[in-house]
Amino acid sequence: MTFDLTGKTVIVVGGAGYIGAHVCKAVADNGGIPVTFDNFSSGHRHAVKWGPSETVDLRDKAATLDAFTKHKSAHAVVHLASSIEVGIGEKDPAGFYENNVVGALNLLEAMRELSLTNLIFSSTCATYGETDQMPLLESQVQNPFSVYGKTKLAIEHMIQSYHKAYGLAYITLRYFNASGADSSGLIGEEHDPETHLIPIALAAAVGLRGKMKIFGTDYDTPDGTCIRDYIHVSDIASAHIYGLEAFANGLTQTEVNIGTGKGVSNLEILKMIETVTGHAVAYDAAPRRDGDLTRLYADPKRAKEVLGFTAEHSNLKNIIQTAWKFHQGVWNIK
Ligand code: UFG
Repeated sequence: MTFDLTGKTVIVVGGAGYIGAHVCKAVADNGGIPVTFDNFSSGHRHAVKWGPSETVDLRDKAATLDAFTKHKSAHAVVHLASSIEVGIGEKDPAGFYENNVVGALNLLEAMRELSLTNLIFSSTCATYGETDQMPLLESQVQNPFSVYGKTKLAIEHMIQSYHKAYGLAYITLRYFNASGADSSGLIGEEHDPETHLIPIALAAAVGLRGKMKIFGTDYDTPDGTCIRDYIHVSDIASAHIYGLEAFANGLTQTEVNIGTGKGVSNLEILKMIETVTGHAVAYDAAPRRDGDLTRLYADPKRAKEVLGFTAEHSNLKNIIQTAWKFHQGVWNIK
């Protein structure tokens, strides 16, 4: 995807995180200047490579307004900063609501104060909740089961209200499972602690951890394991560039799924890891993980219709190859 952003500043809130760093790179690749806002609680300073950064915590309203004021001529804001670990949200809803919802409110207020009108918000398929309707359409009733999903849905609603009352132009992207890494191998998935399937399985494949657990092998799926829609993080990043182009073409409001439409099981992931790395992944069958849904995959048609976006890098082999390249660098292995 190319869209000329020459001379344009895009504020990327959460730009030091996994998806945020890829968004910054995509902005820079198109000639723009990504300015990372991050509190660096989980984001990495070494992931900020394509533009300046501001250390700011969205929970601090005055500091948030100060940071936005420094960059008040920005062309658009991308908001990705949030607490994301679903299990922690169940134990610490206060922390999740404060960080995600209060933080987003402070961001929206700073944008309103400064008349910044273009916002791309990173939401999630976790806002839909339990349903047998697959693939998931944007019109599906949203009834999230996790605190994480509830905070993201609350922010979706806040943004809709700001659109209606104050003229905010917004694009809400509901990501499915972000995966893979930039082809350069420079940035990738580095959570601490890591809870996601692919990085855990890669570590198990090369013996950097013991046997991994596969949570649930008795689901009603062809191989008994959960099914997810893995979308390459570079495709997610490029969806933001399509969004910036859509603003330029006059779009003022939309919610779209960012997925591939294809479901892949946990065991299919392990198999592909063996094919790509040459190492089998040792695992034990474990009980189901709290909050996991059997299958989740997107209907990606609306993103194509409204933004012109389709996933181009998301075949499973490429996802695993790029994730592997990144982790080989981090772990210093051949
Ligand atoms: N899994 C295992 N063993 C592990 C880790 C994961 O079996 O050690 C399984 C999970 O149970 C699930 C699948 O691998 O069946 C995928 O799990 P991930 O944790 O990688 O991803 P999730 O689908 O749980 O989470 C993703 C995003 C979240 C988002 C969620 C929405 O990472 O931020 O989708 O459903 F909230």
